[in-house]
Amino acid sequence: MPSPVTEQGPATFELWKWAWVAAMVVGVLTWGLIFYSSWRFRRRSEDEVPVQVRYNLPLEIFYTVAPIMMVVVFFYWTVNVQNEMTEMVDDPDVTVDVVGQQWSWTFNYTEQGEGGSTPYTVGTTQIQPDLVLPVDQRVQFNLHSPDVIHSFGVPAFLTKLDVVPGRVNKFQATPNEIGTYVGKCFELCGAYHSRMLFNVQVVSQADYEQYLADLEEQGSVADAPLLGGSDALTQAGLDDPSEDEVEEAGQAEDDDEEGGQE
Ligand code: CUA
Repeated sequence: MPSPVTEQGPATFELWKWAWVAAMVVGVLTWGLIFYSSWRFRRRSEDEVPVQVRYNLPLEIFYTVAPIMMVVVFFYWTVNVQNEMTEMVDDPDVTVDVVGQQWSWTFNYTEQGEGGSTPYTVGTTQIQPDLVLPVDQRVQFNLHSPDVIHSFGVPAFLTKLDVVPGRVNKFQATPNEIGTYVGKCFELCGAYHSRMLFNVQVVSQADYEQYLADLEEQGSVADAPLLGGSDALTQAGLDDPSEDEVEEAGQAEDDDEEGGQE
């Protein structure tokens, strides 16, 4: 298990750890009883049959009630952790509109730029994009997909969430350790799924602001978040146009029409 680098991460880690402890205790107890009873009540000679027991009511009640109690306890703690991981406050410090597209990512630092503009960065199958986040700030991720289902995940955050076309999934996390972490797509989404890698850099507030200023200086800035659409199908870094891509271009037009109806 990666060590958590967000405020929310330890909740997942603790749930994982104690679920294993509980499972091990139950496992050791169950194995112990199996081995003990098969040894203690074994057949001792050819002409003797061990005592045969049927319909032991207390035992049957026990092995019905005990698993139900265990499931209730697991369920209780799982819901608790889930509530913490999915909690949304109304005024996050930073909002990033993430686009997962075949087969890379676009990160929009929504309204974080000068005058409320949106600096952004776009990856390709050959260039892994960076996601730069300020430390100790609550970040809201809005996840968009123009094509198929992806999954946005950073192992060190101990969380991930599907990126589903036609809806915007959201979660918040507060990175609290400066450093560089890997992120990737966790949903098999096509031929270059394995290239949907990105780097997460958690930096100081000053470095974050400098990064946004640099993006603006390079012209990587838009009035509103870039949410993919048909552009996502003409990624740089893919092979020369082939019949496949002609087909994909046709699909893109269809997608646009659907988008217009919404
Ligand atoms: Cu996107 Cu796998």
